[in-house]
Amino acid sequence: MTQDEMKKNAAWAALEYIPRNTVVGVGTGSTVNHFIDALASIKHEISGAVSSSVQSTEKLIALGIPVLDLNSIDSFSVYVDGADEINAQKHMIKGGGAALTREKIVAAVAETFICIVDASKQVDVLGKFPLPVEVIPMASRSVSGELAKLGGRPVLRAGVTTDNGNVIIDVHDLQIIDPLMLEQQINNIVGVVTNGIFAHRPANMVLVGSADGTKVIK
Ligand code: A5P
Repeated sequence: MTQDEMKKNAAWAALEYIPRNTVVGVGTGSTVNHFIDALASIKHEISGAVSSSVQSTEKLIALGIPVLDLNSIDSFSVYVDGADEINAQKHMIKGGGAALTREKIVAAVAETFICIVDASKQVDVLGKFPLPVEVIPMASRSVSGELAKLGGRPVLRAGVTTDNGNVIIDVHDLQIIDPLMLEQQINNIVGVVTNGIFAHRPANMVLVGSADGTKVIK
């Protein structure tokens, strides 16, 4: 079974946890693209979606799922998104697709975060995947200097502008022993918009697609 087939298994397994007649929060990425296909199969049973990126919005609309402005709703129950890495505490690194800021905003409003991954995303210690940090463009040099002081090797992601008009700095060579602390420390750097550590808002449930089926971790 390919990695993409494992992603697809996890994504379709998420349908079981989508409450009907409510708004669904939708993340970004190749795993979520499978989830949007799955969501389209129950589109008449949901009230619409809140999206975390232009890419997901375009796919949702193309499949006939109405996309609502987050500011137009009080709350919603379930957010479904992938991850680049996830540990046993359900802390994640996200942002490989540069959508981390809107993902963190939508996830913060959701009551429940369901993370859909293939088994290769599970790690003991976060950090092998370079940590994405969204930065205001004029601060990219100063923020890189501060990130280097934290022990990482910052690399500006070439040719990428986020949906919010910012740049991404990927921080290589980190061993993130304390994700809660590092998430806060990086947020405190002036010029940082968001970093890709999701520890203060971890997942509530993980669906892990593998060759043996989908494992549910609550
Ligand atoms: C998007 O910015 C990311 O946070 C994605 O959720 C993450 O990179 C997982 O992507 P894939 O599902 O494509 O592996």
